[in-house]
Amino acid sequence: MDRNRILELAADMTLEEKAMQMTQLSPDMLYHLSPSNLTGPLREWKFDDKQLWETGSVLGPSGAAYLRKLQEDYLKTSRQKIPLLFMSDVIHGYVTIMPIPLAQGCTFDPGLCEEAAAVVAAESAAAGLHVTFSPMADLVRDPRWGRVMESCGEDPCLNGRMAAAMVRGYQGENPGDKGRIAACVKHFAAYGQPEGGREYNTVDMSRGVLRDFYLPAYREAIRAGAALVMTSFNTVERIPATCSKLLLRRILRQEWGFEGVVISDYAAVEELMNHSVAADALEAGEKCIHAGMDIEMMSGVYAGTLKALLEQGRITEEEIDECVIRILELKNRLGLFENPWKDADEQEEKELLYCQKHLDTARRAARESMVLLKNQGALPLGEAGKVGLAGPFACTGNLLGGWHCEGRPENTRSLGEALQEKLGDRLVTAMTEPFAWGGERDVPDGAEEAALGLKDCEICIVAAGEPEWETGEASSKTNLRLSRNQEKLIHALHAAGKRVVLVLFSGRPLEIGPVLEDCDAVLQAWFPGSAGADAVADILCGSYNPSGHLSMSFPRSVGQIPVYYNYYNTGRPAEAKADSYVTGYRDCPNSPLFPFGYGLSYTDFVCEGLKISWAGDLLKASVRVRNTGKRSGGTVVQLYIRDVSASVVRPVKELRDFRKVFLEPDEEMQVEFSITEDMLSFYDEQEKWGWEPGEFDIMTGLDSEQVETRRIFVPAGAGREA
Ligand code: NOJ
Repeated sequence: MDRNRILELAADMTLEEKAMQMTQLSPDMLYHLSPSNLTGPLREWKFDDKQLWETGSVLGPSGAAYLRKLQEDYLKTSRQKIPLLFMSDVIHGYVTIMPIPLAQGCTFDPGLCEEAAAVVAAESAAAGLHVTFSPMADLVRDPRWGRVMESCGEDPCLNGRMAAAMVRGYQGENPGDKGRIAACVKHFAAYGQPEGGREYNTVDMSRGVLRDFYLPAYREAIRAGAALVMTSFNTVERIPATCSKLLLRRILRQEWGFEGVVISDYAAVEELMNHSVAADALEAGEKCIHAGMDIEMMSGVYAGTLKALLEQGRITEEEIDECVIRILELKNRLGLFENPWKDADEQEEKELLYCQKHLDTARRAARESMVLLKNQGALPLGEAGKVGLAGPFACTGNLLGGWHCEGRPENTRSLGEALQEKLGDRLVTAMTEPFAWGGERDVPDGAEEAALGLKDCEICIVAAGEPEWETGEASSKTNLRLSRNQEKLIHALHAAGKRVVLVLFSGRPLEIGPVLEDCDAVLQAWFPGSAGADAVADILCGSYNPSGHLSMSFPRSVGQIPVYYNYYNTGRPAEAKADSYVTGYRDCPNSPLFPFGYGLSYTDFVCEGLKISWAGDLLKASVRVRNTGKRSGGTVVQLYIRDVSASVVRPVKELRDFRKVFLEPDEEMQVEFSITEDMLSFYDEQEKWGWEPGEFDIMTGLDSEQVETRRIFVPAGAGREA
């Protein structure tokens, strides 16, 4: 449909129709199934039936048959036959579940993430969906916050690459193409920094911090073509993001040129009243319209106020039309006017959902996302002897993680089953009761009996962690230790002389210091998804050599949070003097337990010989990486840069590029990075983007702590490419 037709359609709409086009409800409401499954007072909005069936989009429906019927029913009643948009939270899988995004970050492999997102898109499209509320590009530094699992971690560069890869995977060339869906990057902006890690809490940061760390990943998703943006629940500079002109008009639309649809988060428009920036619904609606916020999710402010606001001259018809036209254009981009069902196809659902090809991708993604944190010769498991398996994640399919959509924990292989296939009779299990649902955090106390049950095993795998329901939205925690009985189990097995291999399932970095000494090996498995158990078994048994590197630092203790690698230096850096008047704690080092970018392998890598060179105007860094061990394996070569002195403080290092490499024993590779102007640039005090001549430290290494450094001088006018 051409743009003129869109404009005609918009011009022909009544104000009521426009307001409902700008309102997103749940499909259950249309069918009167659960009018109250809602947070907040949506019930009080009292939409009538006519309004309900004029809503422009619905939240969270799924299934080809259901969505075909819903669209059919809708189009029967719709005066202008404008198709309904179906949006849902397909965060890391529809039925075939990929590892959680925090784990995907650990692959340092955007190509693989793109592939995984394409699988997610293919399944979602066949099930009739048009839009996914992903990627979540919120930068995270505080593992107390439950939603760190949905992010790709603490680094703007990694987060941005992954968000862009996911957008490409979902949308392909065009979200309207077969098997593709539109991506909605969220939560714009800075939702990842709630004070105290407490969900939905206030966010407060300087403009510089916002620019340096929090904004870049959303921008990368938008550069990759994300069709929608979701606002965040929090405030930014004392204004809720949902009505922030700074964020939505100035940064998103003017600076970044975003022309797509902006949607609020759930009931966030109405929540402006709780934020106390709107005395009533009228003021809330007015502010969001002025900010150019197109779709209100799950509250009725637009539906209830646009008419009065217009009559009172508080908003203009042009402002409303701007929003409506963007929504219609999205529907057009998805091809819905020609084919309102898009790819919804029951037959294809049967063939595609959970098919072997998708499970294979999930297994590859899971293997690459796991991080070997410690290994004192315990892994891979040897060829002989009994192997013990214990812990709440030993015999459960609950490995999918939050937001697992239509994932099937009941069909998901457990670690016990996957290991049984590889180890047969060698496997012995004890104390494998999974976490009980319903508020009971701990697992049964059975440490001594477990040790007794595993007495014939020289090596014991403890599959431990946190239950899925303690991660994700509304799941902040103040205690990040393993539950008491899990810690007891590890201590008991160690005390009984076993070699303990801890396999950790979690949605966040946990505080594992208290058990680390007692473990001979630790594998961070995250929530690895539908093929997660097989992936863990592949690694434990040595058929896959772990290659994941941390996307988020592991704290030594909760008191250290936030702990992250790319901090600004202080006037009294810890390493400067040997006295105590430097930044630090009396009872704990400043460094994390495991730093960003860290990850071991079953082989050894050496990364050295960093050379910086100019090729004409082009600055290049080149470093040699060699596999010095006896197995083939993968690692991540990381490039960090520090601006030694600038007009505003700069982080002690910033990841600017990375390369995942796989090498055979004794194989060596020269890894080259081009250092672009952008990599030396930042927003200065006037918020101007650019670089300043002077000294820069160029660093390479296999994690963010152990790096080789060369200092270079980049003079003014060094050329187009710095
Ligand atoms: C609230 C969450 O913050 C957001 O991430 C999600 O997309 C919406 N609910 C819709 O489910």
